Amino acid sequence: MQTAAGKLMKVFLTRRIPPEGMKILSAAGVCEVSQWDSDEPVQRADLLKGVQGAHGLLCLLSDKIDAEVLDAAGPNLKVISTLSVGYDHLDIDQIKKRGIRVGYTPDVLTDATAELTVALLLATARRLPEGVEEVKNGGWSSWKPLWLCGYSLSGSTVGVIGLGRIGKAIARRLMPFGVKRLLYSGRTAKDYAAEVNGEYVPLDTLVSESDFIVVSCSLTPETQGMCDKAFFSKMKNTGVFVNSSRGTVVNQEDLYEALSSGQIAAAGLDVTTPEPLPTNHPLLTLKNCVVLPHIGSATYSTRGIMGALSAQNLLGGLQGTDMPSELTF
Ligand code: NDP
Ligand code: DGY
Repeated sequence: MQTAAGKLMKVFLTRRIPPEGMKILSAAGVCEVSQWDSDEPVQRADLLKGVQGAHGLLCLLSDKIDAEVLDAAGPNLKVISTLSVGYDHLDIDQIKKRGIRVGYTPDVLTDATAELTVALLLATARRLPEGVEEVKNGGWSSWKPLWLCGYSLSGSTVGVIGLGRIGKAIARRLMPFGVKRLLYSGRTAKDYAAEVNGEYVPLDTLVSESDFIVVSCSLTPETQGMCDKAFFSKMKNTGVFVNSSRGTVVNQEDLYEALSSGQIAAAGLDVTTPEPLPTNHPLLTLKNCVVLPHIGSATYSTRGIMGALSAQNLLGGLQGTDMPSELTF
């Protein structure tokens, strides 16, 4: 694809992306690719420089794409393709105002993220990291009746906050463990909830009646800080809290207080504020808090497919054709 001046369109990639994506961009032969050639995030100044004059931008969830970046890009920018399903890092109002199209990666990461969330829930509820540590450090002295006991899904009530693509996939995987009730909350009741015997309830009911709470909603002004002191105070003392959505849905000071005071039993987090969580963060001192480094979608095949999809979205936006996954707003 060439510009009016007969030049190839320029795209800027804010990181190294999976080879599946790079191959598609190279094979298309329609754009000149420049890239922040690193596995580490681009510095803001380099992003502002790299994006100058770009027709397309391929970014990650760690890149804040706001008016400053859009201004730095200038009027050529036609498309932003993010290598993620979450798009809370994009200033959608500004993007919309400028008529820029957005591509993202829904569906292709749903199974991987649901699997990881279930693994995190089980690891947290059954205290796997503590057990592994005890084996290594000599704390395993004998089989003891009450040592390293946790909580079972069998016969439990699970509450899913945000029964979207990933929330439903998590619920589907949890039901065969013998879950008795599956509650969910969100802005609207879902027809498909029947597939997982889901009961649509107010958030307060979900919080007070669930043994396990799984947060899988998107980050919005409404959900930001939703899991706070009042939220944790309504949970059961035996309750297990799991978050694989975005870190800022949780007030981490309030979570720390709830975990350290015994207000709730345990928490598993795949997402935190900030990311990475500093190694001296108070949450990391707690045995009843399992923290993972945002690896929900991290399987080789999923990341390859995400890479390919983000490249196809970018090309669709550059060429003014359909994108396989365009965000509609
Ligand atoms: P969906 O859009 O399918 O689901 C989002 C859900 O959030 C919807 O069901 C929506 O409900 C719900 N929601 C929105 N507002 C609220 C609210 N106020 N209270 C409760 N629920 C609400 O997206 P996905 O399932 O594909 O992804 C969800 C999120 O998961 C992403 O936005 C991303 O942040 C995160 N994610 C994390 C990953 C990880 O690695 N940990 C990997 C992939 C995604 P309604 O329709 O009723 O508005
Ligand atoms: C997303 O896609 O939003 C995740 O957080 C990473 O896969």
